[in-house]
Amino acid sequence: MRVKYDVDTQLLFQIGDPLDHACACTIHNRMYELANLNAVNLNVVVKKGELPAFIQSCKQLGVKGFDITMPHKSDIIPLCDEVEPFSREFNCVNHVKIRDGKLIGVGLDGLGMVMAIEDSGFPIYGSKVLMLGAGAVSGPIAAELCQRGASSVVILNRTVSKAEKITISLKKYFPTLQATAMSMTLENLCSCAPEADLVVQCTSLGMSGHQGDYEDLTFIDLLPKDACVADVIFNPERTSILARAEARGLRVLNGMGMLVNQEKAMMKFHFGVDLGPEFALEGEETLLMALVMRQLRTRRLTRKGASK
Ligand SMILES: NC(=O)c1ccc[n+]([C@@H]2O[C@H](COP(=O)([O-])OP(=O)(O)OC[C@H]3O[C@@H](n4cnc5c(N)ncnc54)[C@H](OP(=O)(O)O)[C@@H]3O)[C@@H](O)[C@H]2O)c1
Repeated sequence: MRVKYDVDTQLLFQIGDPLDHACACTIHNRMYELANLNAVNLNVVVKKGELPAFIQSCKQLGVKGFDITMPHKSDIIPLCDEVEPFSREFNCVNHVKIRDGKLIGVGLDGLGMVMAIEDSGFPIYGSKVLMLGAGAVSGPIAAELCQRGASSVVILNRTVSKAEKITISLKKYFPTLQATAMSMTLENLCSCAPEADLVVQCTSLGMSGHQGDYEDLTFIDLLPKDACVADVIFNPERTSILARAEARGLRVLNGMGMLVNQEKAMMKFHFGVDLGPEFALEGEETLLMALVMRQLRTRRLTRKGASK
């Protein structure tokens, strides 16, 4: 890693508890390097309840900003001076910049996925969206899709009340939007599929390490032939839902593009730097390297734990 510390070095932190020591910070530093910035990102463990003291220290140290993981993504919101509206609505901020002593917060999950869908060439404007899942990433993704002109959104979730909450939020910002919440049953999946132009899989189903997957994927066979299926999951590279859609010749994308584009959006947010399209490959390689490092580290820690 190229780090040139001098009086001009811009200091940023990755905060959370626990912290993934091998991952986010490594990725951010590689991004700074690719953009030739004199900046460094360091991991800081900040425990729940410690945010106010941490923020005070950042202001004293002249820190440029920080990136956030659990458990602070919602706790940070009341401590910010400005929060991007969708991030406030869906209660999730994962990046903060400090300008003239003021904290400006944003969540970039939704933007990351929508940028990836745009990169794939899928036309979002006027599209009918079927969202699967109503967890933390669903609302921000749906809102960004509506911002780009999606004409209707159906959200299916195991817990319907969470899907309903998202549709209520969406209608606040997009009063003419057709937004529907339903339970994620096979019957509903099959009845919604023929109408969907874009499916965004936002549940943890099929994720490596998560127990559970879609039991019946016949709804994928009912999607229109020019539909696109996007999955937030990047490990495995092809979830069962993506594999089935791909076998049908549908346009598919996994969560890697979402991750890469969040890093691009993060660079724009903190530094005003636009990483061009040529960055996509380098960004993906960096992310893959960091993820492999994380896996190796987890395996080492597991082995250590087992031998105790
Ligand atoms: N690519 C990226 O950059 C990126 C970024 C963030 C997250 N992610 C991935 O996105 C996924 C969701 O993350 P999140 O933060 O939104 O998680 P979350 O808030 O915990 O939501 C999980 C979602 O999965 C559903 N779900 C979980 N187990 C289920 C089961 N057995 N049957 C049916 N539904 C089930 C939940 O339904 P209920 O509401 O009914 O519990 C909920 O809709 C994760 O796989 C995460 O790794 C990717």
